[in-house]
Amino acid sequence: MRIGILSGGGDAPGLNAVIRSVVKTAIFKYGWEVTGIIDGFEGLLSPTKTRQLTSWNTRGILFVGGTILGTTNRGNPFAHKTVVGGKEICEDHSALVVSNIKELGLETLVVIGGDGSLKIGYGLQKLGVPVIGVPKTIDNDLMATHVTFGFQTAVDTATDALDKLHTTAESHQRVIVLEVMGRYAGWIALEAGIAGSADVILIPEIPFSMEKVAEKLTERKKSGSHSSIVVVAEGAKPAGGEMAVREKASDGYVLRLGGMGEIVGNEIGKRTDIETRVTVLGHLQRGGSPCSFDRILATRYGAAAVELIARKKFGEMVSYQPPNITSVPLDKAISSLKLVDPEGELVKIAEGMGVSFGR
Ligand code: F6P
Repeated sequence: MRIGILSGGGDAPGLNAVIRSVVKTAIFKYGWEVTGIIDGFEGLLSPTKTRQLTSWNTRGILFVGGTILGTTNRGNPFAHKTVVGGKEICEDHSALVVSNIKELGLETLVVIGGDGSLKIGYGLQKLGVPVIGVPKTIDNDLMATHVTFGFQTAVDTATDALDKLHTTAESHQRVIVLEVMGRYAGWIALEAGIAGSADVILIPEIPFSMEKVAEKLTERKKSGSHSSIVVVAEGAKPAGGEMAVREKASDGYVLRLGGMGEIVGNEIGKRTDIETRVTVLGHLQRGGSPCSFDRILATRYGAAAVELIARKKFGEMVSYQPPNITSVPLDKAISSLKLVDPEGELVKIAEGMGVSFGR
C-alpha cells in the first residue's frame, strides 16, 4: 500500500503530529509506504511535488507548529485560478490531479483539511480516488466532529493574550478590544472569552448592538471596574450590518475577514469616555507548538486514518465523538458548518455571570 498525504487550507497546530502518526503507524504497524504531497493540492498538479516520508524524516516534529509538507488555502484543482495576460482564468484541473495520483502510484489519499480541503477531497473521491479525511482547523467549525485539532491551541493562545491584556488594561484604566480568528464561527472568541474572563464577547452567531456594548462598559465603569476586556470574533457583525471583509476574490468569495475589532474599538471610543485600545491577534493563533490536547488528538486522528485504510473504508473522515475516535462519510462532514448555538450552555452560563454578547 502506498499512501499519499497532504495538508490543505490554512495551517493549524498539530498538522505535523497527524503526519507523524500516519507515517509511523503505516510503516511500523503495516509496513506500507507514505508519500508526502508538497503544498497541498498544488503538489498534485504537473509537475507533481512530492517527498517520500519515513520514520526518520518525520522524527522530532510532534511538537513543531506548521506543516513540513507546506500548504495553501488557494489551490482548488476544481477551480484553479491563474493569471494569463493580466486576466484571471479559472480552470478545472481535477482530471489531471486524478491521473497524477495514479502515476505516482498512490492507492489512497489522506487529506488533512478543513471545510474547503475536505470538499476537494470529496470531489476527488467521487472521481474514483480513495480518500480519507482528517478534520483540521483552528475555527472548530466542522459539523461532524466534536472538535478539530488546532482549535484548543488557538484558544490557549487567545486566552494567554487576554491574561496579558487584563493587566495592562487595569494599569491604564482602559478598554482593550481583542480581535480573534474563527471565520464565520465564534468558537475561539467564545471559549477564549470565557477562559480569559472577558466582559463582552461578540460572535458572528449573535449580531450585536453597539448601544448595548457601550452601555455595558459604561455600567462597569460606574460600578468601579476601571478596565474592561472585549473579545471580537473576526466574523462578528452588528445587527442589520455587515461583516468586516479584508479581501474578496473576483467571484465575490470572501478570502479574508478582519477589521471588526477596530470598528468596535472606534465606536466604544466615541460612545463612552473610556480610553480604548485594539489588539488583533491574527496568525499567532495558527502558529507555534500544539498544546498537549491537540498533540494527542492529532496522533489519534492520524492512527485512525491508517486504520480506515486498513479496513478499506474510503470516503470517510475520522471524527472525535468523545470518548471515541470514529468516522463519518465525507459528504456528511462537509454538509454544513458547526456554529455556536446562541442559546447554548456556554453562552447562557456567560450571560448568567454578567458577560455581554451585545444583545
Ligand atoms: O480557517 C482558519 C483561518 O485562520 C481563519 O480563522 C481565518 O479567517 C483565515 O484562516 C485566515 O486566512 P489567511 O491565512 O489566508 O489570512
